[in-house]
Formats: sequence, structure tokens, C-alpha cells
Amino acid sequence: MAVGIFDSGLGGLTVYDAVSKRLPDVPLVYFGDNAHAPYGVRDADDIFEKTTFAVERLWDAGCDLVILACNTASAAALRRMQERWLPEDKRVLGVFVPLIEAMTEREWGDNSPPREVAVKHVALFATPATVSSRAFQRELAFRAIGVDVEAQACGGVVDAIEDGDLILAEALVRSHVSALTRKMPEPEAAILGCTHYPLMQQTFQDALGAHVKVYSQANLVADSLSDYLERHPKMRGSGTENIFLTTGDPGQVSDRATQFLRRRIEFTAA
Ligand code: DGL
Repeated sequence: MAVGIFDSGLGGLTVYDAVSKRLPDVPLVYFGDNAHAPYGVRDADDIFEKTTFAVERLWDAGCDLVILACNTASAAALRRMQERWLPEDKRVLGVFVPLIEAMTEREWGDNSPPREVAVKHVALFATPATVSSRAFQRELAFRAIGVDVEAQACGGVVDAIEDGDLILAEALVRSHVSALTRKMPEPEAAILGCTHYPLMQQTFQDALGAHVKVYSQANLVADSLSDYLERHPKMRGSGTENIFLTTGDPGQVSDRATQFLRRRIEFTAA
């Protein structure tokens, strides 16, 4: 049994880390498409091609269920994959819905009509492709009314993290937060809508101020995966090993991953 976790690069490791702690007995196969990161500046067709290529590699590694631990792929490719591409015995889940359910105080699968929720002013930080897809606002509108969302496309942050340049990443985060607060001076909540951003969570929190509740996805996705596997135990797949695959340079990607997760992680070529 193995579950696949996919991201354009290192960001999905934030989800991997939470899932491996929540479900220590489930083998996980991670695929980072580091050679092609960032996805956030690509068009939807390109993101679809790259994401489906990676997901097929994860089927081959014994996964029947893959988590797209990438908001950009979830926003630009997931719906098309589910409607027109997915084989009947496989599943692909995105990372948006658990986050929006948490923010709108809903239980998993609560399909009741949209209603008023406590937060009214939400800042969304995400990649340019995720922001322009408006997928977050669409999912939110199914569940909540009267929420004002101001989105900030955070150009450059994923590249800086992938390059291991955390000083640049921090400077960019501060400048994106300041651009956002010029448009929405008093957000009550902020969504880190890219799985790379939890690696900079403290910087987002400092720049926004302690009064802003910052939502990030890793633990929410781990909880919802655990719930899903309890209800669909057959989707655990046939793989038995924890594996890390990359399209990038395995030595360099392993070093960055080790730096982020603070334990040795060994990637091999995908
Ligand atoms: N971690 C991906 C996401 O959640 C990064 C996107 C990118 O490669 O630009 O959106």
C-alpha cells in the first residue's frame, strides 16, 4: 500500500511531513517535478501535461491514490483530470477543499447551501496561475457567502525557495504582504495557498501581525487523507516503500529537502 504525493518541487514536502506523522504506517511515494518548477508561471495546458505525466509515474510506483500537494496543479488541472483523464480505479485529490472546509467551519463532505461564516476579509497568497484561475474563490462560493477575498500573486517566492535562497524568499514575502495590505488593510485571515509557503510561515505571520489567523494546508490535508483512507481502505495501493522521486538533480534536491525537513531525505531520479 502506498499513497502518492505530488508537487512541482519541494513545497509538497510540507504536506508529506504532516501526512507521514499522521499516518506513519502508510508508505508514501513523493514526486517533485523540480526540473520544471515553478508551475505558477505556466499555462493550464502545460500544467495539465506535466501533472498527468507525474501522476502516471506514481501509478507505476504502486499508488492508486495521489494527492496533488500543489495548489497550482489543483487549480489548473485537477478538474480536467477528474472529468476526462482519470482511470476508473484511480483517484486524485487536491489540496484546496480541506482548507476551505476548515475556514468555513464545515465537516468533510458537508454539501449544505453556502452560509455566512465568521471571517469576512480573507487574504489569499498564491502563485500567479492559482490566482488567475480563481479556483479558490469558486470553491469558497459553494460554501460561504459574504466573504471578501483579496488575492496576491506572489511572483518569485517559489523560485527563491527552490534555489535555497531563503533571504530572497523572505524579502519577497514581506513585499507581497505589504502589497496585499495596501489593497486590504485589515484581513482577519490569510490563506497560504501554495504548499511552498509554509516553509516561510513565520515570515508571513510576522509581516501580517499576530492578530491575523494564518491557514496553511499540511495538517488539514493530512487529517482529510486519514479520514478518506478510513472510508476507502482499498485506495491504499500496492506499493510498500517510502520513495522520493525527482526530475531534478537528486543530490541537490536531497540536500534542500534535508534542510527543510531537518532529517535526511534521499531523492532518486524519477
Ligand atoms: N507548491 C506549488 C503550489 O502549491 C508551487 C507552485 C509552483 O511551482 O509555482 O502551488
